[in-house]
Amino acid sequence: MTVYLNGEFMPIAEARVPVMDRGFLFGDGVYEVIPVYSRRPFRLAEHLRRLASSLAAIRLDPPLNDADWARIIERIVAAADFEDQSVYLQVTRGPMAVRNHAFPKIVTPTVFVMTEPLVTPPAELRERGIKAVSAADNRWHRCDIKATSLLANCLLRQRAVDHGCAETVLFRDGFLIEGAASNIFVVKDGVLLAPIKNHLMLPGITYDVVLELAARHGLPTQVRDVLEDETRNADELWMTSSTREVLPIVTLDDKKVGAGDTAGRPGPVFKRMHGWYQEFKQSVMRGG
Ligand code: PDD
Repeated sequence: MTVYLNGEFMPIAEARVPVMDRGFLFGDGVYEVIPVYSRRPFRLAEHLRRLASSLAAIRLDPPLNDADWARIIERIVAAADFEDQSVYLQVTRGPMAVRNHAFPKIVTPTVFVMTEPLVTPPAELRERGIKAVSAADNRWHRCDIKATSLLANCLLRQRAVDHGCAETVLFRDGFLIEGAASNIFVVKDGVLLAPIKNHLMLPGITYDVVLELAARHGLPTQVRDVLEDETRNADELWMTSSTREVLPIVTLDDKKVGAGDTAGRPGPVFKRMHGWYQEFKQSVMRGG
């Protein structure tokens, strides 16, 4: 697989980063994961905009402009031998001479891009839904930055895996925040509820797509603080991310989501959203 590292394209096995890199020693860097369908990056401009805000938030000058990023991504995508891809890009504050928390006087960022096959959720998973556990959100207060220091997220995601689940839903002070690596939506009485973007959650690109599709198709939506109680009593719960798209959560902490016929099963609003999402993806891929 061809990757990009600091100005050069090379096979992944040849890509090397110094051990004094601040990304390695401190997790001092930011990243993006961009889905690519039929070799076309999805929502590239939005991902690059979020990268720019992450870089600004950690006080790192942009190493490349959007046109350069687009060219690099295009070449990495073209070199891969799979059609649907998940492009990963990362910028760290680069190597330092001695280990020191404070920034080096002269920063030479490390810029890395790779791609992996994108395996979108199979129909069977969508029809069955996924299980989730909950946890108190013990991350820092700048979760709006897409930082590579993901230890808390890794521990929280592993908690789900340890319980035979696919995601951990995070609550803070009685409110729904997001998932360990996804955003979370609630459906109650036919209304889509989405937590307001703030410093405690990642502003998801898929989250925006879902809200745009809801508006376009007239699905009543409220973007507001969502209570933990409302989440636990939801008719439907969804998780969204660039790699998982939109997936229905059918149990939370072993309790079935929803009531009546669809309890513990994907709900009708999810099915509509999934249809709109696939239709939208197709139209974008056709250049529409
Ligand atoms: N994660 N919240 C968190 C904490 C995330 O890590 C992610 C995505 C999202 C969803 O954002 P988006 O829709 O832009 O993918 C929300 C990526 C996929 C990852 O870390 O691999």
